[in-house]
Amino acid sequence: MPSKNYSVLLQLGRFLLNYKGTLVAAGCALIFTAGVTLAMGQGVKILIDDGFVAGSVEKLNNAALFIVAIAVLMSIGTYARFYLVSWLGERVSADIRQAVFDHLITLHPSYFEENRSGEIMSRLTTDTTLLQTVIGSSASMALRSFFTFIGGLILLLITNLKLTAFVLAGVQIVLVPILLYGRRVRTLSRQSQDTIAEVGSHAGEIIQQIKTVQSYTQEANERKAFEGHVEGAFNIARKRIKQRAMLIAVVISLIFSAIAAMLWVGGNDVINGVMTGGELGAFVFYAIIVAGSVATISEVIGELQRAAGAAERLLELLSIKSTIELPSQPETTAGIGSRIVLDKVTFNYPSRPDQAALENLSLVIEEGKSLALVGPSGAGKSTVFELLQRFYDPDEGTVTLGAINIRELMPLDLRSQLAVVAQQPTLFSGDVMHNIRYGKPEASKAEVVAAAKAANAHDFIEKLPEGYESFLGEQGVRLSGGQRQRVAIARAILKDPKILLLDEATSALDAESEHRIQQALENLMQNRTTVIIAHRLATIRNVDSIAVLDDGHLVAQGTHDELLESSALYRRLSELQFQERSGQ
Ligand SMILES: Nc1ncnc2c1ncn2[C@@H]1O[C@H](COP(=O)(O)OP(=O)(O)O)[C@@H](O)[C@H]1O
Ligand SMILES: [Mg+2]
Repeated sequence: MPSKNYSVLLQLGRFLLNYKGTLVAAGCALIFTAGVTLAMGQGVKILIDDGFVAGSVEKLNNAALFIVAIAVLMSIGTYARFYLVSWLGERVSADIRQAVFDHLITLHPSYFEENRSGEIMSRLTTDTTLLQTVIGSSASMALRSFFTFIGGLILLLITNLKLTAFVLAGVQIVLVPILLYGRRVRTLSRQSQDTIAEVGSHAGEIIQQIKTVQSYTQEANERKAFEGHVEGAFNIARKRIKQRAMLIAVVISLIFSAIAAMLWVGGNDVINGVMTGGELGAFVFYAIIVAGSVATISEVIGELQRAAGAAERLLELLSIKSTIELPSQPETTAGIGSRIVLDKVTFNYPSRPDQAALENLSLVIEEGKSLALVGPSGAGKSTVFELLQRFYDPDEGTVTLGAINIRELMPLDLRSQLAVVAQQPTLFSGDVMHNIRYGKPEASKAEVVAAAKAANAHDFIEKLPEGYESFLGEQGVRLSGGQRQRVAIARAILKDPKILLLDEATSALDAESEHRIQQALENLMQNRTTVIIAHRLATIRNVDSIAVLDDGHLVAQGTHDELLESSALYRRLSELQFQERSGQ
């Protein structure tokens, strides 16, 4: 399992390879600082042997100057290493974040139904942040420790073979508790992170649903539920820090015992004249460096494993294939017209493979004409729109535009032919201008205003606190349902598409808004191929044809008057509406 994990990290290496120059420079800085660190040992040796022992003030001065010089070199090298390596970490994680986002926004929309958006967001933020710290610090610590370990070991062997064997045995003894406790600490710290994430998502949900919580007076229960999460997280954190404290205590006692033992053996050698005091000093210095390197490596290995997990999840996101396949040789949309045909379309949503949302449905919408879809809720009306925009592909049958199967068109080309006004239009948190311009960002202010006028939206926009610059986000102005729909209609008018997909608002609008929206829609529908999901008979009067859907089937088609004769379902729907109207 781990070996597989590390190969994942290597795959992410291709993001690093975009910065070969920086990578090489960072590598040089790493090796340089490792070398300088080792040279410090020689400084210690000279200081002791030539300075103290020889009793020469001049040599002591030189040795001290040597150490200062090395310290200067070390600080320059460390500056370069820290800057370059952290830069790489930040740069690469920014690139990965961008790559993942770029990929995500091309995926089939159903992906986001099957996967919680919170989880996807956390991959984009926490997983990339984890990678950033690993590339920017843990990995460089591991590499630096690796270099100092090898170099230190060689110098140890040169200085004193017997003592080196001693050190290596000591290192192993120190490693045992690190590996043992380290694993436990890691498991606990993962659990600890998970529980913290739960705390966050719980609080997030409650804050979003605050009105429901308060109106059902569930504050006390929610407080208790939250307390459960918080205390759970605390308990795991307590276990983790206990293990960690234990680990530190054991390692410290082992390390200092080992150093004492080494000094004792080495001190005997110095007394017997086998080695000089300076050599022993340098030796102790290298031994500490070697042991420290090993400790560092075994510590950051856990981080590397976590990063491998994060990398794996990110690569997984990057490798998801959209179920909406692009044509290998796309047809052009130039001059294909806007006649739409659904031919014997059968479709199941992926999450409901046994229940057809549409079954053997055939519809024709002639160029420039309008078709209304009516039927009870759940009949499959919105699903028709989803297929027309190719958010899904039908399981059987075809959808054609002009004479071309829409699978043969690039989705981008297909979608630029049409504009959608949704049932409950959602607006972006920019200003009104940004929202109307969404389908045509290069539109001039005059064009935007003209579109807003045609959508009957200009008057109310003018009255907003800052007119077209009024902010519509969370802290911005709130628009009513009817106003939002008119902004959406203005957006569609500005896009000026050949094909219009209108999903009428179901929520009862006041007569004034309804009339204004009606007028706006009529402006919009002129000379365009229109499919309209109609809930109000007023809209249906002017369309060329009405299709009645029920349970995914086409049950009748014709004009209003024809359908009143021929379709019992249509009659019932229109009677219900009539009752509602007169009841108001
Ligand atoms: N994203 C979805 N995943 C699974 N089933 C869906 C999805 N959207 C709609 N459905 C189901 O497909 C059927 C048709 O829905 P829809 O086209 O939204 O109906 P309408 O717009 O006519 O009210 C319904 O049974 C609905 O529950
Ligand atoms: Mg619907």
